[in-house]
Amino acid sequence: MRVLGFESSCDETGVALVEFTEQGCSPKLLADALHSQISMHQAYGGVVPELASRDHIRRVIPLTREVLARAQASLADVDVIAYTQGPGLAGALLVGAGVAVSLAAALGKPTMAVHHLEGHLLSPFLSSDPPEFPFVALLVSGGHTQLMRVDEVGSYELLGETIDDAAGEAFDKSAKLLGLPYPGGPHLAKLAESGNPEAFALPRPLMHSGKPDFSFAGLKTAVLTQVKRLGDAPTEQQRADLAASTQAAIVEVLLKKSLLALKESGLKRLVVAGGVGANRMLREQLNAACAKRGIRVHYPELSLCTDNGAMIAMAAALRLQRGIGATAPSGGGFEVRPRWALGEVS
Ligand code: KG4
Ligand code: ZN
Repeated sequence: MRVLGFESSCDETGVALVEFTEQGCSPKLLADALHSQISMHQAYGGVVPELASRDHIRRVIPLTREVLARAQASLADVDVIAYTQGPGLAGALLVGAGVAVSLAAALGKPTMAVHHLEGHLLSPFLSSDPPEFPFVALLVSGGHTQLMRVDEVGSYELLGETIDDAAGEAFDKSAKLLGLPYPGGPHLAKLAESGNPEAFALPRPLMHSGKPDFSFAGLKTAVLTQVKRLGDAPTEQQRADLAASTQAAIVEVLLKKSLLALKESGLKRLVVAGGVGANRMLREQLNAACAKRGIRVHYPELSLCTDNGAMIAMAAALRLQRGIGATAPSGGGFEVRPRWALGEVS
């Protein structure tokens, strides 16, 4: 069976075609195409929701054509159409959902609504080293920071999450204070390469709470205080030091809480997903700490850490393989869920 998947929850339009056979065989990515709106939003220092929606409208059909052409397939070869139902920006979600449901209605094919974070969480199944269930998942994106226990596809138990900003948000907001372009995470990581991570003493909130929870809002305030202290003309080295210290603070907390969740659950497998999962320092530190404890760590391919259509088609394929059904073709009615907790997915 073949699943065509659409992702449009934020500032990336992603479309992909995934093929699967019976349970036990890994679904295969036949083709995917992505358009990132980053350069469009950069002028505003963040995502402008209405511009995002309009751009999704412009991109989604050409990307679909591209995916089908690359897979040497046609719409007649598609069996199920999947789309991100939430969480995300309402207007942006409506574009992908609208296209997916209309296409399904026109073709007489069923649809499957996918939770965006379930897509991230299952994205390592697209890698050459897919994980086995059960595992602990560290979901670190621009909007979410959560530790989940995952026993099977559709079985997600929240172990802990951020009480304020997400890890990606902490990267992005600190980067902005350092005068770096949006989205700041990768830029801050680059600047940090030439900095001293111990140069600035930044807070690690909730570090010793004894629970797998997070708080990053205070870090941003501490970075602001340091930026003000450095004045109008900080040297390149001072900026790099502050970037390195910020990254070290975020990574240390993510590492400590992941290890805590692993210890408490007794599981020996960690899956890291979401945009911040691309961070090299985070990967190095998790790899080293987990190797010592006999824990295996799985990541999505670097290109699939941030939003993409492949993870949505993949999540749908894994569900369908397990007999978690798709919705029969309807007259075209649908809803999106801008706010939607992963724990509500069954
Ligand atoms: O998963 P994602 O594409 O979007 C959401 O679903 O939110 O994650 C985007 C986030 C942004 O905050 C971005 O700055 C961050 O991931 N990010 C990184 C890196 N690459 C992306 N943060 C730190 N280091 C990176 N290398
Ligand atoms: Zn995402």
